[in-house]
Amino acid sequence: MSDRTETTDSTGRERGADASTSARGTETDPLLRIEDVRKSYGDEEVLRGIDLEIDRGDVEVLVGPSGSGKSTLLRCLNRLTEVDSGHIYLGETEVTASDTDPNAVRQQIGMVFQDINLFAHLTARKNITLGLRKVRGLSKEEARQRADSELERVGLADQADSYPAQLSGGQKQRVGIARALAMDPEVMLFDEPTSALDPELSNEVLEVMQGLVAEGMTMVVVTHEMRFARGGASEITFLAEGEIVERGPPERLFENPERERTKRFFESIRHE
Ligand SMILES: Nc1ncnc2c1ncn2[C@@H]1O[C@H](COP(=O)(O)OP(=O)(O)OP(=O)(O)O)[C@@H](O)[C@H]1O
Ligand SMILES: [Mg+2]
Repeated sequence: MSDRTETTDSTGRERGADASTSARGTETDPLLRIEDVRKSYGDEEVLRGIDLEIDRGDVEVLVGPSGSGKSTLLRCLNRLTEVDSGHIYLGETEVTASDTDPNAVRQQIGMVFQDINLFAHLTARKNITLGLRKVRGLSKEEARQRADSELERVGLADQADSYPAQLSGGQKQRVGIARALAMDPEVMLFDEPTSALDPELSNEVLEVMQGLVAEGMTMVVVTHEMRFARGGASEITFLAEGEIVERGPPERLFENPERERTKRFFESIRHE
């Protein structure tokens, strides 16, 4: 994906007018750099020195047992959780710097969670236009057009006027994705976006995510969906007890892990 230009994505679709200035650094630099990130809750060290570099257009899939620190790491990436030490960079911007505005970071690094957190009293379209109006300062009409085009991108053009209660879990999750995409982020984070959904609804969300992969979106994805990991991941990182045990392309990690711990983990999820 290194041949992507700065103003259009690989589908040739025009991104926001500020796309040319928001892409910093050279194309060969990693877009996201995580350097020796540590985080403790009380006596428990949850992240024990995480180092990770993610290139523009890459899809990093994080896997690991429950409690290994996957969500904490994602949350550190967009400042929902503050690191104790270490540094995170998005291009040349230090995300973790005290003078970096967390809200600016969250526009650049969109996040989709397991729990679908739409405003219940607003339509799908309004859920998206809200941020565009308030944060981006778009006019009513601009926001509406942008929201509708993002809804179309996730296959929900016909649900713009529906309220969350009228949508399936998968549709709600896709509205959440559209809302994050509307901010024109550099990176999208997904924390188990399908784990609350039954298989059929999971598939429609996974298809949208696969579409983003094809568009060249840089993504960090925590998921148990090994089909997505196999088909979509550039790299898989296996975390255990707050440390990176092993990282590699999906074929190698699945077929030929170097570490016994990794092998055991993949065997355990295969048997699930
Ligand atoms: N806000 C918090 N306060 C205290 N402890 C926390 C907090 N958030 C996470 N932890 C602890 O940090 C550890 C790592 O949690 P985290 O949610 O990052 O794991 P995870 O890998 O995402 O697990 P899961 O697969 O179950 O989602 C756990 O022991 C958890 O209890
Ligand atoms: Mg988690």
